[in-house]
Amino acid sequence: EPVSAPPMGERALPEIPLFSDLPREAFIALFERCPLRRFPEGARIIEQGSRGNAFYVICSGRVRIVRESDGTTRELAVLGEGAFFGEMALLSGAPRSASVVGAAEETQVLEISAPVLGDLARLNPQVARALRRFCRQRLLSQVMN
Ligand code: CMP
Repeated sequence: EPVSAPPMGERALPEIPLFSDLPREAFIALFERCPLRRFPEGARIIEQGSRGNAFYVICSGRVRIVRESDGTTRELAVLGEGAFFGEMALLSGAPRSASVVGAAEETQVLEISAPVLGDLARLNPQVARALRRFCRQRLLSQVMN
């Protein structure tokens, strides 16, 4: 169930490296435009193989990234507050490369849809650059592991 984000000032803004170069007003506007979703421990936030139309920034809590192949499950990473996930399918159009599962009592994520990301990147090219930079590192770490 989507829960609309409470007005800024009622809670602390999380530290999000992806948006470190985004002006504060644009950062707040983004939070007001995107639904904040809450997931309990064990909830499947993303299903591997599904189609993706949004990516997610972790505002609080933690998720496990798991890949299922040939009947075995392998944990690729654990991501915490400030990290993001689900960008790969969004940027490539490919199916979700892994499943993402809630790994804290409650995990809150900001859901950023493709059109919102498009606007954000157009108005703030530094965000698009940061996203590309982070994605390169993630892809590289996949190749190296
Ligand atoms: P996507 O493929 O859309 O959906 C699953 C997400 O898991 C993927 O985007 C990435 O955000 C994330 N992911 C996949 N592999 C890794 C990895 N090796 N390390 C961290 N995150 C990953």
